[in-house]
Amino acid sequence: MLSLQDFEHRAKRRLPLSIFGYVSGGGEEDLSLRANRADFDALRFQPRILCDVSGRSQRLALFGQDHALPFAIAPMGFSALAAYDGDVVLAQAAREMGSFAICSAASLTPLERVAAQGGGGWFQCYIPGEETRIGALLDRLLTAGFDKLVVTGDVPVAANRENNAKNGFDAPFRITPQLIWQGITHPRWTLGTMGREIWTRGMPHFENMEAVQGPPLFSRDLVRSTIARDRLSWTHLDFIRARWPGKLLVKGVLHPDDARRARDCGCDGVIVSNHGGRQLDGAISGLRALPAVREAVPDMAVIVDGGIRRGTDVLKALALGADFTLVGRPFLYAAATDGVEGVRHAMKLLAEEVDRDMALLGVNRIEDLRGLSMVKA
Ligand SMILES: Cc1cc2nc3c(=O)[nH]c(=O)nc-3n(C[C@H](O)[C@H](O)[C@H](O)COP(=O)(O)O)c2cc1C
Repeated sequence: MLSLQDFEHRAKRRLPLSIFGYVSGGGEEDLSLRANRADFDALRFQPRILCDVSGRSQRLALFGQDHALPFAIAPMGFSALAAYDGDVVLAQAAREMGSFAICSAASLTPLERVAAQGGGGWFQCYIPGEETRIGALLDRLLTAGFDKLVVTGDVPVAANRENNAKNGFDAPFRITPQLIWQGITHPRWTLGTMGREIWTRGMPHFENMEAVQGPPLFSRDLVRSTIARDRLSWTHLDFIRARWPGKLLVKGVLHPDDARRARDCGCDGVIVSNHGGRQLDGAISGLRALPAVREAVPDMAVIVDGGIRRGTDVLKALALGADFTLVGRPFLYAAATDGVEGVRHAMKLLAEEVDRDMALLGVNRIEDLRGLSMVKA
């Protein structure tokens, strides 16, 4: 395993097509998914030489907290389907490496267990557009010890991901001959991930959408449990801000006016993201949106994600003004193939790339990246 991409190749062999397709896929034509990579590839550095880079460090503070790495793990739903105990694995590995993983609302692991066994303090919610339901969820999060809340705003409705329907990964989930065949032909996943999960903890449920446990995975209630999300508006953000004492961030920001709106309602940060190309197909990449968002909210934390696969990608994002970066799919592939050890290895590989690339760029500190000379390829 020499780079993050290597984990994807191994995961593709290990996972049934329905699960691999769910993780790897984007919306409709994959326009935004491809743009995420293309926009990184189109940027080139103009490095400086003979700078004495022997004192370089990639440590980076966010909200006053020091981190050993300038990247963390993005929230990913259904992680426990791809990797055994995936949510805990991601959180544990990130913490051990001096970073953090954001626990997803769409996870199948009770958030209390992720908090107790993984730590990190970051939770991402898909809030329903109703204040009573939101309030109860916030109380649950505070009791569990979370202190950073990410509200994802780019999922008012489910995206059109045709690959999921084609591969048999479609809500409400049904056990079909296609899924049974995928299970038979991927025994390591069937026994080591899904079977082990059901054996250890029973049928997975949607645990963290609301204050109480949601429906089981194979349930017709699933669609009903997500209704009212399209009613969500900035008014709900105001409501959350008034009740949530911790840090509050909005994820899915691509327009500078939305970043300003988040600042005006008292948010502490925004995550500039097109959801890994999984929501509106044709949305610009987080990287493309970043400079305008940075300019709009110079004093707010700006985090970016989407398509980051190399140390140079992390550094390009930081050079364009990001305060921190998130990486999604590669770390889930690493969890799927090699558990905690795999995620640690993947994070180490990326950290080594960041370190090497800082030296090659002539940079000692992350702060020195701002204003670094880059050109369009
Ligand atoms: C399998 C999968 C599940 C995801 N689930 C969520 C989620 O529950 N909440 C959310 O805000 N974003 C979710 N995302 C988007 C990620 O948080 C992140 O924005 C994206 O994966 C970053 O792109 P990358 O995978 O290219 O690094 C998910 C992404 C993937 C790949």
